[in-house]
Amino acid sequence: LSETSDFEPLVADSAANPSLREAKPQRFLMCRPGNFEVYYSINRWMDVTVQVDAALAMAQWENLRKTYLRLGHSVEVMDDVPGLPDMVFTANAGIIKGGKALVSKFRSEYRQPEEEYFAQWFQAQGFDVVRPELVNEGEGDFLWTGSVMLGGSGFRSELGAGPEVTELLGLPTETLELVDSRWYHIDTALAILDERTIAFVPEAFSPRSLEILAGLGLDQIRVCVEDAEWFALNAVSDGKNVVVAEQAVNFQAQLAEHGFTPVPVDVSEFLKSGGGAKCCTLILDR
Ligand code: ARG
Repeated sequence: LSETSDFEPLVADSAANPSLREAKPQRFLMCRPGNFEVYYSINRWMDVTVQVDAALAMAQWENLRKTYLRLGHSVEVMDDVPGLPDMVFTANAGIIKGGKALVSKFRSEYRQPEEEYFAQWFQAQGFDVVRPELVNEGEGDFLWTGSVMLGGSGFRSELGAGPEVTELLGLPTETLELVDSRWYHIDTALAILDERTIAFVPEAFSPRSLEILAGLGLDQIRVCVEDAEWFALNAVSDGKNVVVAEQAVNFQAQLAEHGFTPVPVDVSEFLKSGGGAKCCTLILDR
């Protein structure tokens, strides 16, 4: 099923029947934003003159954590480090596959010191830590469909990062080209909803990458630019419930039409840093 118009009739199979969708409990890593702020700018959403409300950020983060717990997921929490405000975005910590943790290699020198803290955490949890040679911003740029890792390149992770993920973790990868700086990590442009459904904002991808996406044979939900600017695609799905930016109302309606249950959260303070719900969340049990 690919969504081509607003007036597409509701499909009559299980995809549209919420009762047939099954939520898979997951284990996540989050990092408490004790030092969250925007004092440097490494993406076009970050404006150092805009004030971040630290108390509100903490409350929104707590609400996100509790939302996961309420949905039956488990959440590991680590603490951030003074001077490293972007540690809250644990999707960028690395990529987990079984007992292995591929730790990220950040493009920006502001974020490179995070690598050691994430590596230490993975090690302390018993993961076998592996390191890439090329810039690789972890799950921010690598999303697992269930059969292939969709990688994003163009702004952060290097073109060769995908083949390196294949080499180090043994996962097949397909690298997509991001062409619009509003959606600079693939997790801001595309969301995996279940093993046969993806959502994305077409404007974020090159024509060739859109062809590759079409060739995957998955159901596609095309998300409008307005919602995508609210980081609609920076969503976390368990196969049934989709934790999503509350402002992305059109996308929530699309999710409901496709039989998913939207679970809106407000992450407004993190948007000031170019991050949303998924950015604050790393999947630990792949
Ligand atoms: N300020 C952070 C950066 O620019 C935001 C990271 C968002 N993370 C993500 N997975 N998209 O690196």
